[in-house]
Amino acid sequence: MALYSEKVMDHFRNPRNVGVIEDADGVGEVGNAKCGDIMKMYLKIENGIVTDVKFETFGCGSAIASSSMATELIKGKPLEEVEQLTNKAVAEALDGLPDYKMHCSVLAEEAISSALEDYYRKHPEARPPKG
Ligand code: FES
Repeated sequence: MALYSEKVMDHFRNPRNVGVIEDADGVGEVGNAKCGDIMKMYLKIENGIVTDVKFETFGCGSAIASSSMATELIKGKPLEEVEQLTNKAVAEALDGLPDYKMHCSVLAEEAISSALEDYYRKHPEARPPKG
């Protein structure tokens, strides 16, 4: 079996939603202390929906593929759903990652929650009630 799925290779070679949103509503940056990789997420949010998302990842191929897939999974989605996104869901959508590369997908989950936190800090009224 190939180490990486076709989907990982595709998102690594042609990452979706790469870039910066200058007037983003939420920005999150996270890093993995062990490998030194860094991921930055930008969210545009209107009426509780993620209308646009972009990322910059300085990291390994799996981190790039994970961030690309994660942006596709949350674009157009309500915040309640975006909050639920787990690194497992990202890895599954990529048809799997090798075990020792799962932490790369964790970076995507963390970058999105950090961007969401940034948004909620600025718009506390938008935070969905915990349920
Ligand atoms: Fe660091 Fe993949 S090796 S995020």
